[in-house]
Amino acid sequence: MSDLQGYIHREMPRFREELFDFLRIPSVSARSEHAGDIRAAADWVASRMRDAGLEASVMETPGHPVVLGEWRGAPPGAPTVLIYGHYDVQPPEPLDEWHSPAFEPTLRDGNIYARGASDDKGQLFLHIKALEAHLKVTGTLPVNVVVLAEGEEEVGSPSLVPFVEAHHERLACDVVVISDGSMFANGIPSLLFSLRGLAYFEIHVQGPKGDLHSGTYGGAVVNPGNTLARILASLKDDSGRVAIPGFYDDVMEWDQATRDAIRDLPFDEEGFMGEVGAPGLDGESGFSLLERLWIRPTCDVNGILCGYTGEGAKTVLPARAMAKVSFRLVPRQTPDRVRELIEEHIADVAPPEVTIRVLELHGGRPWKADLEGDFFEAARSALEAAFGTPPVLAGEGGSIPIVVDFQEILQAPVLLMGFAPPGANMHAPNEWIPVKNFETGIQAMASFYTQLGG
Ligand code: BES
Ligand code: MN
Ligand code: MN
Repeated sequence: MSDLQGYIHREMPRFREELFDFLRIPSVSARSEHAGDIRAAADWVASRMRDAGLEASVMETPGHPVVLGEWRGAPPGAPTVLIYGHYDVQPPEPLDEWHSPAFEPTLRDGNIYARGASDDKGQLFLHIKALEAHLKVTGTLPVNVVVLAEGEEEVGSPSLVPFVEAHHERLACDVVVISDGSMFANGIPSLLFSLRGLAYFEIHVQGPKGDLHSGTYGGAVVNPGNTLARILASLKDDSGRVAIPGFYDDVMEWDQATRDAIRDLPFDEEGFMGEVGAPGLDGESGFSLLERLWIRPTCDVNGILCGYTGEGAKTVLPARAMAKVSFRLVPRQTPDRVRELIEEHIADVAPPEVTIRVLELHGGRPWKADLEGDFFEAARSALEAAFGTPPVLAGEGGSIPIVVDFQEILQAPVLLMGFAPPGANMHAPNEWIPVKNFETGIQAMASFYTQLGG
């Protein structure tokens, strides 16, 4: 065991306690009542950056603050690595489904349970610990480092693009490293070749000026609930494809080599079924399960609001109905184009006797990786050294919209490697991360810097 590995292993109990402190802060970005907790989390991250040997500042934005940590002591000409993560978390509800409280981190069977354990506090913190290990053990790092931790990722990062644009000189780097996703399987790390994008809408249907008796008026007055159901049903066809005309015009077809590589991955379909807990699966015909998740676009209803849903029967013709509908996008699709297409489509499908409004919520462009270069090779070796098995190239169905902006504004490639286990319950009750993943993640990142030095 090297000095570096030994340090990390020895200090693990302290690292874990520190992570527990981080997880106790309910930094829910979506709720204004947590503004104080968001600030506390930002200050906490800045303090831990300083403990690790970085210079750190909490920088204001129109929304939640960005924490910037910097170490610029590398030899002249050395590259700069920018690490990105987020210290905000999703709301913890439904609370009664947690086996231990969301903000009281609990160790069970070697796993840490808490909101943010995997998404993304555990993964952001492991990067800070890898830097600490190098700086405490060797007193130096072979590269300059900038750590950018934001507090608005879970609400669509509204302040981050302007922040990166305004500070692009200070954030200038040769590579961006992000750990905000999962490993391919238990024990098998991954480097991502793609992320899906996101286009998210609210569809509002307004009929009569107020709710009506469904006996007195039903049959003659258009029911917004029925209309919304018709609109939603028209979004997909029986083969699992999105049925909006023009939707596939911008969809990139992946090369056969990538599709073959996906097919050859040791995917645990049974484990996946267990995670999901549904009677069966479905999707776009002609594509495998992983292809449906990674390289094909989707359309999903995320929520519906309409009419009477309380106890018993109420004969009412509701005045309005609303649905939240989102699309996961793949390379060459853009949220803007999808908005145009869905607006045209709804105008075609909906009767003129109701008023429809389509609001766009946050979105993000899809991303495709550049799978070459010294940083990519260093990441590959580091993951192999830490996990004892080389990483697989994997896609990801979730979205991290800032990735494309980093690439464009900073003109640097992005490396995505996640350390969360599959089925980490991100955004759900009982989110968790194995202590082992947390430790191996630190070892992997420490090894990454060692590789870059050699
Ligand atoms: N960390 C997730 C994205 C993710 C999840 C990547 C699982 C890889 C595996 C991120 O915090 C997230 O939740 N993103 C949102 C989009 C954002 C605009 C709110 C998502 O994917 O829904
Ligand atoms: Mn995340
Ligand atoms: Mn998330």
